[in-house]
Amino acid sequence: MPAEILITENVGARWIDELNKKFTVALEPELWKSPDKIKALLPGCRALIVRNQTRVNADLLSAATKLEVIGRAGAGLDNIELPAATAKGIVVVSTPDQNSISVAELAIGMMLGLARKIPAANQHAHGGGWERQRFVGTELYGKNFGVVGLGRIGFLTALRARALGMNILAHDNYISPDAVAVAETRAEMLGLDELLAQSDFVSCHMPLTPETKHFFNYDRFCRMKPSAFFLNLARGEVVDENGLIRALQEKKIAGAGLDVREQEPPAPSALAGMDNVILTPHIAAFTREAQDRVMAAVCQDVTAVLEGRAPKNFVNFQKPKIKL
Ligand code: MLT
Repeated sequence: MPAEILITENVGARWIDELNKKFTVALEPELWKSPDKIKALLPGCRALIVRNQTRVNADLLSAATKLEVIGRAGAGLDNIELPAATAKGIVVVSTPDQNSISVAELAIGMMLGLARKIPAANQHAHGGGWERQRFVGTELYGKNFGVVGLGRIGFLTALRARALGMNILAHDNYISPDAVAVAETRAEMLGLDELLAQSDFVSCHMPLTPETKHFFNYDRFCRMKPSAFFLNLARGEVVDENGLIRALQEKKIAGAGLDVREQEPPAPSALAGMDNVILTPHIAAFTREAQDRVMAAVCQDVTAVLEGRAPKNFVNFQKPKIKL
């Protein structure tokens, strides 16, 4: 008897126990690596729960004969082919805001790490070193924090940067100048080139779409100050990594903090040896609090759809199908 709910990535256990009280659940944390195996299991399933590694495309969904809902345990939707799900009447639910605070906090952590050279100084001190002059950094106070994408995460990051005494510069073609996010962060809305030229830190908070792929390329890095740092905790493919490496090697910018990569897990790269680059393995949402909120929200919404009730965070239907 196939499970009603198939989970193809690693998720927290507490909320799975809740699902288990009502449904049969198969938790296969490594299954995202084997699309053919998912395809073989999918015909019997009513719900599929994924993070960002399972490619839920038209080919996979061709096997989804009974699927009612896809639960995306996270914010980004770039791994879900929404039109294919919609065409089959499958509701897609996500967790648009549940991990935003954690991502914003890691962005601030990376910014401090870069400004004060914390990873390199830590490695030096662990090795018994005490050469203090090697680690003269910069203050954040009074510096310009340039946020590209003033959505939920960009807003929360900018708010925290403001609390550190930074000036907020923002670029976002989809936000009105009188939006709450602009007022609350007291952001100065700028064209992209002006933002790149004036920022001491540029933080990317854009979703991955066909328009944003390789948005940050060599040319755009060259428009930044040579003393400026670049942060990406959004999606790796928004950055042309070869362009970033070249900009770092030519000292067009001072350093970078990357939680996401063009390819995940990444192939060996010149970035790995650079002491002015902080790399983390896509952990921005990985806090106990965020994961608990994410799993609570996704499990509640998946349960709602399977029980014929309206979910809270659905992304592909104005009104999801409700069983009569
Ligand atoms: C997200 O999109 O919410 C984050 O990248 C975290 C994740 O997918 O695991």
